[in-house]
Amino acid sequence: MSEIVNIQGLQKCFGKFRALSDVSFTVNAGEVVGFIGPNGAGKSTTIRILLGIINRESGNAEIFGKDVWKDSLEIHKRISYVPGDVTLWGNLTGGEIIDLFLKLHGGGDKQKRDALIKRFELDPKKKAKGYSKGNRQKVGLIAALSVDSDLYIFDEPTSGLDPLMEAIFQEEVEKIKKSGKSILLSSHILSEVERLADKVVIIRQGEIVESGSLNELRHLTRSAITIATERDVAEMANLNGVFDFKQKDNLATFSADNKHLDDILMQASKLGVKKFESVPPTLEDLFMRHYEG
Ligand SMILES: Nc1ncnc2c1ncn2[C@@H]1O[C@H](COP(=O)(O)OP(=O)(O)OP(=O)(O)O)[C@@H](O)[C@H]1O
Ligand SMILES: [Mg+2]
Repeated sequence: MSEIVNIQGLQKCFGKFRALSDVSFTVNAGEVVGFIGPNGAGKSTTIRILLGIINRESGNAEIFGKDVWKDSLEIHKRISYVPGDVTLWGNLTGGEIIDLFLKLHGGGDKQKRDALIKRFELDPKKKAKGYSKGNRQKVGLIAALSVDSDLYIFDEPTSGLDPLMEAIFQEEVEKIKKSGKSILLSSHILSEVERLADKVVIIRQGEIVESGSLNELRHLTRSAITIATERDVAEMANLNGVFDFKQKDNLATFSADNKHLDDILMQASKLGVKKFESVPPTLEDLFMRHYEG
């Protein structure tokens, strides 16, 4: 079975407020899917439905081909989850909490646990109530990463981690990915998503507005062009697919629709191209486009 997560037409209201109006996407085996969107878009709500914490009003949601609400106990044996605000039992130490979690998941990998504790520089002997936000987050991450799950669900997993620790998290996710596991990663750190995700799903106001590989998404949007020509570059401004045209002497910068690129290049060559640069949009550019409406 290649579809690990399959969500179709998910809807969810809180009272009169419609948090999800149409959410559909899939996570295939061995795939890292980046789930991004502005605050309040519905990412955590979708994830909580997947975890069987809250139920949907309509639509379908399956993990491993099983219904996330009815079969949640069975599903949970094969998944690991880390929220953005890991809460712990204050009187237990970090080490005890990690072990408790591993026990619930068939024991986990003790060697891996120890290696992760070292890598994340966690003091496992401290009581959880004494941990900082970042350290609480580390406990959740170490526990989740020490378990051999088929699906890892991360909801803002690195919130509160310093950049060094964030980089370690990314390396660990790459290891999991290499071993063929599936990952659903919701994150506001777009460089993290850009680095790790095979596919990106963008949600806005409870609806999926875009999904696909980063390459596919890039193709839909504009590239940033810098061009210098021998003759006056000004007439480029009027071409189809040219936006935000700015000129300084014979150097112009503008953004260009990829589908008009061929024509734009042809017109440019008539003016004698001396310099040409095309930079595809970053994930941040793509995101901002939807963010700004
Ligand atoms: N239990 C609840 N009761 C009422 N409204 C809720 C509840 N849970 C979520 N909401 C609302 O549903 C919307 C989606 O929230 P959700 O937590 O899914 O957003 P998010 O995409 O995870 O945002 P963030 O990036 O801030 O974590 C928000 O407007 C939120 O206020
Ligand atoms: Mg959230």
